[in-house]
Amino acid sequence: MINLKSKKEIDSIERSCRVVAEVLRRLERKIHPGVSTKELDTIAEQWIREMHAEPAFKNYRGYPATLCVSINEEVVHGIPSPRQLKEGDIVSIDVGARQNGYYGDAAFTFPVGEVAPHALRVIKVTRESLYRGIEQARAGNHLSDISWAIQSWVERFGLSVVRDFVGHGIGKELHEPPQIPNYVTQGKGVRLEVGMVFALEPMINAGTHRVKILDDGWTAITEDNSLSAHFEHTVAIMENGPRILTQWE
Ligand code: MF3
Ligand code: CO
Repeated sequence: MINLKSKKEIDSIERSCRVVAEVLRRLERKIHPGVSTKELDTIAEQWIREMHAEPAFKNYRGYPATLCVSINEEVVHGIPSPRQLKEGDIVSIDVGARQNGYYGDAAFTFPVGEVAPHALRVIKVTRESLYRGIEQARAGNHLSDISWAIQSWVERFGLSVVRDFVGHGIGKELHEPPQIPNYVTQGKGVRLEVGMVFALEPMINAGTHRVKILDDGWTAITEDNSLSAHFEHTVAIMENGPRILTQWE
């Protein structure tokens, strides 16, 4: 059952989303060679709490941090550590916050200093695929319209869509129905309605779509060690179309 949100609830979700957006905006300025992923995590948690919200991921199924920070071949759920970013890396940062009982969730992949053209291309195409998916998040469409918009965009550039992780509904829970694959599966999927709120989050690899989980139990990496990028927005379906609640750029 997909839970439809009232205007008031969407406002509440948006407040959490603004916290998330502000954290990403501030983190962008901290991304440079030599910064450790743990430093980013510590400051992000501080900012979230100063904004009277709570980190959404910390302790979620035992996840130990505020951010997921995934570098290069890491796809998602990289755990912050003393590892330092270096020139040429690409780093995806995923942030979630909860305030007044509602969640917001977003992610962005940043280049660290000067980055190779093929890596920038993975970032660009992934980001474009998210916006193509968002464009389909309108009442009357079906879930598979979002999935196909993302998949078809990415595959035309020879990149691949991760299968093992999906987008999700969001609201009073971080993960609500429906699951939102970034590739087409069987059937058209549910019909989209005003009041649905989704976290759309394509995870896109330069090589194989296959991933494996490291021994830390969280970090997903590409099976062939190819680069991976990840972008996410929380999006509400309004009468007049999609509204991005986590916009910050
Ligand atoms: N944006 C990711 C997600 O939806 C981050 C989850 S990290 C976790 O699912 F630790 F909370 F699992
Ligand atoms: Co998410």
